[in-house]
Amino acid sequence: MDKTRIAVFVSGGGTNLQALIDSEKSGQIPDGEIALVLSNSSKAYAIERGKKAGIKTVVVSKKELGSQQAFEEKVVTVLEEEKIDLIILAGFMSILSKNFTDRYPKRIINVHPSLIPSFCGDGFWGLHVHEAALKKGVKVTGATVHFVNEITDGGEIIMQKAVEVKEGDTPEVLQKRVMEEAEWIILPRATQKVSKEIRLEKVR
Ligand code: GAR
Repeated sequence: MDKTRIAVFVSGGGTNLQALIDSEKSGQIPDGEIALVLSNSSKAYAIERGKKAGIKTVVVSKKELGSQQAFEEKVVTVLEEEKIDLIILAGFMSILSKNFTDRYPKRIINVHPSLIPSFCGDGFWGLHVHEAALKKGVKVTGATVHFVNEITDGGEIIMQKAVEVKEGDTPEVLQKRVMEEAEWIILPRATQKVSKEIRLEKVR
């Protein structure tokens, strides 16, 4: 049976995309294949990473299309053309509507740079998450991979990994540690887990 076809949605640097590409290459995602990289910004370096790996890349711009609805309709068209089974939000900094998430139940996963339910929800993205963790003075943080539903960072948790906060950490230093010690490890693992489940469902 065909592998699970994966689309990775990105907006920025794409280090999580890179972790997925490297994991697929080294055989750690045997049940899935990254078939598409979709960015909402033409400036995202992640697009270059996708191209370098020989993956089809596409930019869908909400600005150009004029509305969230038009943006999501275009995204759905692209996903259908590419026969995508699973969507991975890897540093995708745009909120998807309930209309969109309802269309793909348990078929969208996201990586978030904290231990949900801490430091998540609207306004908590990228460096802001680590700023908030340092401000609170937590001694342990981490990353979470979860299914995406209509509630921001509210879907079922798939995997989590804790990371130590160290004396003198800046948001940038902490972000790097959380990526290296948690995100780049659990995102490929969770991707394999869900890819396998989807593949098995297809054979049933
Ligand atoms: C990652 O830390 C990711 O967890 C976070 O943005 C960064 C993207 O980096 N995502 C969120 O905050 C989503 N709420 P990357 O482009 O290098 O993968």
